[in-house]
Amino acid sequence: MSEDITYASLKLPESRKTENIQELDRSGTKALPASSRIWRQTTLILTLICLLLLIGLGILGSMLYTTWKIETGKLNKLQNVKEELQRNISIQLITNMNKSENIRNLSITLQNLATKLCRELNREEPGHKCKPCPNGWMWYKNNCYLLSEMYQTWKESEISCSAQNASLLKIKESTTLEFVKSKNLYSYWLGLPPEKDRRNSEEVDKIIVSSARIMRNVNDINKMYCGYIYRSMVVYNHCTTKYYSACEKKANPVNVESVVMSEDPVRRI
Ligand SMILES: *[C@@H]1O[C@H](CO)[C@@H](O)[C@H](O)[C@H]1NC(C)=O
Ligand SMILES: *[C@@H]1O[C@H](CO)[C@@H](O)[C@H](O)[C@H]1NC(C)=O
Ligand SMILES: *[C@@H]1O[C@H](CO)[C@@H](O)[C@H](O)[C@H]1NC(C)=O
Ligand SMILES: *[C@@H]1O[C@H](CO)[C@@H](O)[C@H](O)[C@H]1NC(C)=O
Repeated sequence: MSEDITYASLKLPESRKTENIQELDRSGTKALPASSRIWRQTTLILTLICLLLLIGLGILGSMLYTTWKIETGKLNKLQNVKEELQRNISIQLITNMNKSENIRNLSITLQNLATKLCRELNREEPGHKCKPCPNGWMWYKNNCYLLSEMYQTWKESEISCSAQNASLLKIKESTTLEFVKSKNLYSYWLGLPPEKDRRNSEEVDKIIVSSARIMRNVNDINKMYCGYIYRSMVVYNHCTTKYYSACEKKANPVNVESVVMSEDPVRRI
């Protein structure tokens, strides 16, 4: 009996245990499937959302990248065009500068040729219309000279020179000195400043050095001494004395047309 009881008592806990285990098992397999399905769905949805987000980000990123690349490309192209334009403009500027310099050089050459030709024409035919000096004036280098054989006081000579837009001859440049010496002038008033005291005569060559003397205020010209040229000397005498006078003025540039248009200039040379 006791054995039976023991068995029974022994069996009981075992069966209970297995029952318990069975219950546990049942509750485990029964509770787990319900929550895990939700979890799984949630996870799936979240993962999908994440994936979608990632894809969206990727698309956005690639779009941005493409846009950036295109814009950078455009910018680079613009930069290149700008640099090319700058290069082209500077080349154009240099070319234009060369062109205008060429034109300037050509016109200088043309002017020099016309001047040479005009001198030749005047040698052949004194007073040719190409001459850049008024009628009756002598053309020497870049100046025009007029030797007036009218006896006049110094003041009168000065006035008659300025009436012709000229001044009494001043020996300020070597070309004027050359002209004076070549003409062997005697008794022609010069455009030297009148002096209070009679100056000693001096060589005309020295005048060019001291030509810095400026015309001072002339108070009483009738009591002063003026210089005139006598061959190679500059001599002083009362300004009221009457001598010839020598006027000078700058020659106008030779009119190219007057040379080119002159009838058959080639034959004349
Ligand atoms: C620059 O000059 C070259 C040739 O002179 C020309 O082919 C090119 O189109 C010019 N570039 C620009 C931007 O004008
Ligand atoms: C301009 O002239 C200089 C020399 O006078 C020459 O070296 C240069 O190549 C010229 N430039 C152009 C663009 O013609
Ligand atoms: C113009 O003339 C000057 C001086 O004679 C010379 O140095 C220069 O090269 C010339 N320019 C051109 C473009 O011929
Ligand atoms: C002097 O110059 C003025 C103006 O420059 C001119 O009107 C006048 O005709 C000139 N006189 C002579 C004699 O050349």
